Amino acid sequence: MSDFKYKPNELFCENVKVRAIAEAVGTPCYIYSSQSLVSQFLKLKKAFAAINPLICFAMKANDNLAVVKTLVKQGAGCDIVSGGELKKALAVETDPQKIVYASVGKTEKEIEESLNAGILLFNVESLPELEEIERIAVKLGKKAKAALRINPDVKAATHDRITTGTLQKKFGIDLTTAHKILKNKEKYTQVDVVGIHMHIGSQITSKKPFITAIKKVAVFIEELKADGIALEYFDIGGGFGIVYNEEDPFCVQDFADSIIPVLKKTGLKIIMEPGRFICGNAGILVTQALYIKDNGVKKFLIVDSGMNDLVRPSMYDAYHEIIPLRKMSWKKEKMDIVGPICESGDYFAKDRPVYAAVKKGDFLAIMSAGAYGHVMSSNYNSRTRCAEVLVKGNKYYVVRERETYADLVRGQVVPDFIK
Ligand code: LLP
Repeated sequence: MSDFKYKPNELFCENVKVRAIAEAVGTPCYIYSSQSLVSQFLKLKKAFAAINPLICFAMKANDNLAVVKTLVKQGAGCDIVSGGELKKALAVETDPQKIVYASVGKTEKEIEESLNAGILLFNVESLPELEEIERIAVKLGKKAKAALRINPDVKAATHDRITTGTLQKKFGIDLTTAHKILKNKEKYTQVDVVGIHMHIGSQITSKKPFITAIKKVAVFIEELKADGIALEYFDIGGGFGIVYNEEDPFCVQDFADSIIPVLKKTGLKIIMEPGRFICGNAGILVTQALYIKDNGVKKFLIVDSGMNDLVRPSMYDAYHEIIPLRKMSWKKEKMDIVGPICESGDYFAKDRPVYAAVKKGDFLAIMSAGAYGHVMSSNYNSRTRCAEVLVKGNKYYVVRERETYADLVRGQVVPDFIK
């Protein structure tokens, strides 16, 4: 995480001391580096320059308007998954012709909104969905373009809950069904089925499953061509992994070098949908130590952020490195680092060697929290969702205010009969 560094003993994000932000904004808070976001985006763009793909940032990883706008300004499009993400993508002036929309459960309202916005592609996940888009497009007198999301039935080496490309999962359409749909595509008067989409899972650190799946789909595209079915787009999804702990880094240049010849041969315009790769290591969650507790068997370091702020350790047993904002030497004393939520699953680390000198008031950074962090936060235990900060150079900007207690009761009504 090159934009988060000790200089020499204080953690900096770019040229801003992280502790200065924590003291001014309060904790917990997410901090993102603008420079990291841009450099990850450009790394991908450069690696694939030979085929000039449309890179649609997967907003589900981080939908903060300032983060999305940073990428849109660099030429990114958006991969959306709901009407809410469409609204946000449009709010930061994403070119609708750079928006692709995947979801197994698009509602009539969401389809209408997307048709009215004139998005590039609906990534369609079932035959009934395609028929629904056709029906709504006829009703509105709009034309739509669609890609069929193929489920290539390839297993990716990642957590089961973030594997998507096998037939045990709800995503996409199997090859046989997809072939049938494409053979009959002329029957749709308003929806032009012009592409193939795939996404096999997330946090995949080896290029192998991508290569296997893309090659499989490329063969399918060849078969379609032989049947006289012409397409325009091949959307290869996202899923490129990042380093949380000691994973081998996913080398995009190496992946690009291996796969570009296969992609070129399809003759189609390539789209990709990275989320985590762009923003995962561009963000941290800053928290403050509240108490240290020793029950004779175990030690616990209790901090002021909880699973409602960052659910990844609780939900996927995910590893996040945790470091102090002010460098100290870490003595090998194992503790659980836990939050204040009333659940045993509310932890950030289990039996992690923690510096023995840690004390109430110390600030800690939970690293690699820029993807699937704030977006998955909740108000569980009536906790306010925390602030988000964007750093650029030697300045920082609060890009989302911390919620207030007023936000917690907004929209709630106690009916008269109880009063
Ligand atoms: N495209 C589609 C259709 C997706 O479903 C996803 C992620 C992406 C792109 C972006 O994947 P990425 O490049 O970020 O790996 N909450 C989980 C991850 C869920 C991923 C959902 N889909 C986590 O915290 O690990």
